[in-house]
Amino acid sequence: MAESLIKLTDCSKTEQYESLVRQLEALVGNEWDVIANMANISAAIKDVFGFLWVGFYIVKDDWLVLGPFQGSIACTRIARGRGVCGIAWQETRTLVVPDVNLFSGHIACSSLSKSEIVVPLVHQDKVWAVLDIDSSQPAHFDDVDAVYLNKIVGLISVV
Ligand code: SME
Repeated sequence: MAESLIKLTDCSKTEQYESLVRQLEALVGNEWDVIANMANISAAIKDVFGFLWVGFYIVKDDWLVLGPFQGSIACTRIARGRGVCGIAWQETRTLVVPDVNLFSGHIACSSLSKSEIVVPLVHQDKVWAVLDIDSSQPAHFDDVDAVYLNKIVGLISVV
């Protein structure tokens, strides 16, 4: 894939994700470097959907440590079981949070964030990173996002 992104308009979210996944397969499939792929994936997701913040946290020892992201500065370290990210890590599952203000323990990196989705990256039953996306719109994420974002993180090779 050339280093440019085709963004579909006037179509469903599913069609936008289908197009994005195809392009990312071409982009990421030829590159083994995890950081480079996380960087391009976060940029591409933010570019297509205009979310507030898109980025990765990577498991290092007992912490999730901030990795490649697109958006404003964010907290650097998150403990296991803390915040939406830390719970997704602890429970090895995708978390969709329609209203971050109603999520006990949510870590607010921006007061503009209203809803959130966190998708764990899993290898041999162990979480090694998470993809975190914040939206300024309430209840912005649903099962379609969960399904396609899981496909997208599956494109990233394991560290
Ligand atoms: N809200 C996240 C913290 C990370 S920022 O949103 C970038 C959480 O509760 O884990």
